[in-house]
Amino acid sequence: MKELKVSPIKHGTVIDHIECGMALKVLKILGLTEEPPEDTTSVIIHVPGSKGCKDIVKLENKELKKKEVNQIALISPDATINIIRDSEVVKKYRVELPDTVIGIVKCGNPNCITNFHEPVEPKFIVESRSPVVLRCAYCNRKLEDVTANLL
Ligand SMILES: Nc1ncnc2c1ncn2[C@@H]1O[C@H](COP(=O)(O)OP(=O)(O)OP(=O)(O)O)[C@@H](O)[C@H]1O
Ligand SMILES: [Mg+2]
Ligand SMILES: [Zn+2]
Repeated sequence: MKELKVSPIKHGTVIDHIECGMALKVLKILGLTEEPPEDTTSVIIHVPGSKGCKDIVKLENKELKKKEVNQIALISPDATINIIRDSEVVKKYRVELPDTVIGIVKCGNPNCITNFHEPVEPKFIVESRSPVVLRCAYCNRKLEDVTANLL
């Protein structure tokens, strides 16, 4: 029998293969922690599988723009976006880190302008994708531990 943790959705998006334990950060990146989703959203944490464990997020009646989701690559480079229509996966793509990252991680330099109470959002240039290396667009400091600096 097929194991079902939550009921299937008719239309929406499944974010699959999220790194284990990172689902809540994914919601944060999508802005769904400040502004709760309007439709049923399932967050499944610690799903065992052949390659260890993973998290999954299922968003009913929501289709995400590539730009919105690509920043997920920062914390889950293997995540896939599955668009569901009429209960079927009609489109699947892997997240891909964009050239710049804005407002998700903070700069490690305490003297950086983005760490003062000014309306300056952190902004990083993606210098390398594997491993992920970001460089602050304001103070030029290199940031290597992304997870430790998530906002
Ligand atoms: N109608 C649906 N409602 C909710 N979740 C769905 C629905 N259809 C597929 N999914 C989920 O979306 C993800 C991708 O579905 P798919 O059928 O492509 O699985 P898969 O072949 O295992 O894909 P992959 O190779 O990417 O792991 C899976 O986690 C699956 O459980
Ligand atoms: Mg699978
Ligand atoms: Zn900086």
